[in-house]
Order: sequence, then C-alpha cells, then structure tokens
Amino acid sequence: MTRPHIRILATGGTIAGEADPACNGARYRAGVRPVAALLAAVPGLGEIASLDAQQILAIDSKDMTPDGWLHILSAARQALADPSVDGLVILHGTDTLEESAYFLHLTLPTGKPVVLTGAMRPADHPEADGPANLLAAVRLAASPDATDKGVLVVMNGAPYGARHVRKARTSGLDAFESDQSWTAAVPDGRFARLTPSTLPRVDILPGYAGAPAMLINASVADGARGLVLALTGHGSVPTDWEPALQRAREQGVALLRASRCAGPVIRNGNADDDGAGWLTANDLPPPKARVALMLALAAGWDASTLQHQLPGF
Ligand code: SIN
Repeated sequence: MTRPHIRILATGGTIAGEADPACNGARYRAGVRPVAALLAAVPGLGEIASLDAQQILAIDSKDMTPDGWLHILSAARQALADPSVDGLVILHGTDTLEESAYFLHLTLPTGKPVVLTGAMRPADHPEADGPANLLAAVRLAASPDATDKGVLVVMNGAPYGARHVRKARTSGLDAFESDQSWTAAVPDGRFARLTPSTLPRVDILPGYAGAPAMLINASVADGARGLVLALTGHGSVPTDWEPALQRAREQGVALLRASRCAGPVIRNGNADDDGAGWLTANDLPPPKARVALMLALAAGWDASTLQHQLPGF
C-alpha cells in the first residue's frame, strides 16, 4: 500500500525552540531549530507517510501578524492544490496557534486534512514534547478520519477542532482544551475564494472596571476599521463607552460585542444591538471573533450579511 504524502510547513514556535545562550540557557528562544532537524528527531515518521517540508517562517508566535497569516495561507493553499499532497501539517508556536488555526479554518478549501501542532517544551529539553506532537500530527493528517473536519489541532495526544480549541493554561503539557470533541468538528472554508493582499485592522478592546472610553477613540484615530469589544459578563457595554461607540459607528467602524466569559452573547439580549448598530459574536471568543470580522470586512460584507452569518461561525 502506498503511504500518503504529507507536506510540513514550519513557522517556528517552542517546538523549534532552543536554550538562549545570551542568558546562559535560563530562557529559550522559539523558532530557532530548522524543520529538517525537527523531522530528524522523530524516528518512524517516514513509515507513516512520505514527507516534504518547507520552512516558511521562523518566529515566536507572539509575533504572528495578519500578514503572517496571509503568508501561511498562501503556502497552505498551494500545498492543498497540489495533487501529490494528501494532507498538511503546520508547526506553530502555541501562544497564537488557535488564531492561526481558526483563520485557516475559514480560508482554506475543505477536504484534505490540515493539522496544526506545536510544543510546550523547547526542542532541546530532555523531555521535549515536540517529537510526539509532530508524530501525532502526521499520523492524524495521514488518516481518513481527518478528512472534511476543517482545520484540526493536535497537542499532547489530543486532537481538537479549530473552532473550539484554545490555549487555556500558560504552562504544562495539557495547556490546550476545547468544549467540543474533535469528532464533531465540521469544515468551514467560507472565505476559501478570498484573495486579499492585506487584512483590515480590527482591534480588541477589553471591558473591565473603569475601562476608559479613550481606548475606543485611540483605536479609531489610529486606523481601526473594526473593534471587537471583549466585554464583561453577557457582553455588557459600559455606559461611559456609548458616546465614543456612537461616534465610531458614524465613522463606519464595525463594532462587535463579545464576552471575556465563555457562553453566548445574545443579540438584543442585554443591549439594543439593532438600535445601536452593534454586531454580536454569539459564543466566538474575542480573538476568533476578530478573525471573523477581519475576513468579513476584507470580503466587503455589509453589516447585515455578517450578522446573519455570525451565529454559524
Ligand atoms: C510561541 O508561541 O511561539 C512560543 C510559545 C510556544 O510555542 O509554546
């Protein structure tokens, strides 16, 4: 039987991290070790699939940007369009892995398996988790079970769907979690035909006791075309924010109510969204609501199209 062919795209992260000589190894630097060395550290990988690999970025994922997403997207679309490629594995830092995974979930064509993985310990750690994660990711990408699931993430032996996965803990091998089983994951790809060269700027503004309205003015003055409001409780807008939000709306800035808590923000639930012209995120957490809003703005959707689609994101 022929082995499936899997392409690996490496972007950096702790999975490619090494102790930093500048501080006598007290800290490590992400995105140092090249992908060929990461593959060589996993015995048996070539028995699961034939592989080719590209080093497309070499960064700590705290430094990922929307331009970085577009760069990954271009390489990933190219890979999936290649008839010789059966599945794709993307190596990524864990800090913003869920944002990249969700961006790709919305923008890649559906069908072939796409699996992101990373590591919580650097590659030169005596008990590095990267090799096992890489093995699990290739195994999943080579499996028919991962077909038509949209973008998946595998960490510490557990697969997750991109829509619901999040990094929930700062440390520990079990840093990732999801409130939905990956077997229930469904493909999306609603922006698979979108080809922007840049993405519109959308900022996330946190709600907290005493949060000043000048944050809104500053974001809008600095060029934001959309704001995701990561609000308290059920997406409650501070009264002090209302005039600044109204001015932002009048300037054409898209405003989306989300919550810093888990659970849905219900449209017109505890605010007059229709009257104020606010969008509501349903249960999308703020970083993923931001991805959705950026793509909707890039695609030129009007507010009502976006609001109509948001519950299904
Ligand atoms: C990063 O996100 O690139 C560094 C942290 C990690 O990968 O765990």
